Amino acid sequence: MERFDPMSSTQIQPLAPDGYRLRLPGPTFVPERVLQAGAQLVVNHRGPEFRAALVRAEAGLQPILGTRNRILFYAASGSGMMEAAIVNVAGPGDELLIVTHGQFGERFTTIAQAVGAKADVIATPWGEDIDIDAVQARLREKPYRAMVVVHNESSTGIVADLASLGALVRNSPTLLVVDSVSGLGGIEMKQDEWGVDILVSASQKALMCPPGLGLASISPKAWDVINGGGRLPSFYWDFRRAQASAEKGETPFTPAVGLVAGLLEALDMIHAEGLPQVLARHTRLANALRAGGAAIGLSDFGTGKRKSATVVVFDVPAPLDGAVIVRELYQRHRTVIAGARNRLSGKVIRIGTMGAIDADTIYTDLAHLENVLPDLGHALTAGAGVAAAKAYLE
Ligand SMILES: Cc1ncc(COP(=O)(O)O)c(C=O)c1O
Repeated sequence: MERFDPMSSTQIQPLAPDGYRLRLPGPTFVPERVLQAGAQLVVNHRGPEFRAALVRAEAGLQPILGTRNRILFYAASGSGMMEAAIVNVAGPGDELLIVTHGQFGERFTTIAQAVGAKADVIATPWGEDIDIDAVQARLREKPYRAMVVVHNESSTGIVADLASLGALVRNSPTLLVVDSVSGLGGIEMKQDEWGVDILVSASQKALMCPPGLGLASISPKAWDVINGGGRLPSFYWDFRRAQASAEKGETPFTPAVGLVAGLLEALDMIHAEGLPQVLARHTRLANALRAGGAAIGLSDFGTGKRKSATVVVFDVPAPLDGAVIVRELYQRHRTVIAGARNRLSGKVIRIGTMGAIDADTIYTDLAHLENVLPDLGHALTAGAGVAAAKAYLE
């Protein structure tokens, strides 16, 4: 066992080196204001101050989700919220239809298997748009309890057409369960209008907060199912407990108090800029990065047309290895982007375009890529990427 060796008894140890640029598709850069808010004195989570904070957080989130539902808060990561969504609707005899289009959809399948839910899968090839007609045909085969889908596939950079998927089940008993962990706050979400019955998300992506705060919003249609029983056994994830506490202005268990404090600042920032403006900024900056990438020989992964506004996924030009690009960007520039930890390993690089970013963020990403790629054997015209992104934005 390693001995704990205190580095300093008086000073905070920085986790990140100087110049560190967190450019992952989550967790994302957390603005100073959000960090400071999260470092405030912890208050009683059942006292008036935190009750007021929860009320404000719910009011700030509802327009971002496009819902009038209560927002349920959990100390959890996105995967926890995915599991919560499954166990609340999938009884032992109920079948789910999991519509996968990348790694996180496949995680839903893994979760369903782990908790003993019965699930069929309709798999979209990675990088392609979901075939809505094919999903409709599958839904006709059986009375599914729920259709389960990832809104923004962080692994492929493709967005599900939730309006069309919602329309397929709106007038049937089947629920629509959606993970918008990496979409919410950066890509339009109209939960009520589209008929999304259970929406789960998390704090560390476009919501600009540190990781650890999970969110869920549940439609009246889903509540009928949840209250009607047929759920898988669970304690922490039982949405009925969270809802009962929410009615009293509380969470059932000790919440991530500091993260809620940070979220309030992030919500203020989003609403001060204006939600439509925030969403448009995400789209513009993601497209600028794509334009810059194209100018230096980085093409978009996949043939799908519904490109993400929160993550850009580039094909790695042969014979390069994505992991080497990721490593070099970090070593030379302290720019932290993602590769892939799945079947695309080495073949793609992924850059977050969500949260607190601006045009300069994108120019810097491209400048760093322009600096690193030639030395790895990829020829490009120096400055072409930044120039193309600028031309796109101006
Ligand atoms: C779309 C999506 N769903 C779920 C998750 C899992 O979230 P977490 O890592 O917080 O468990 C992620 C994380 O990247 C994600 O991008």
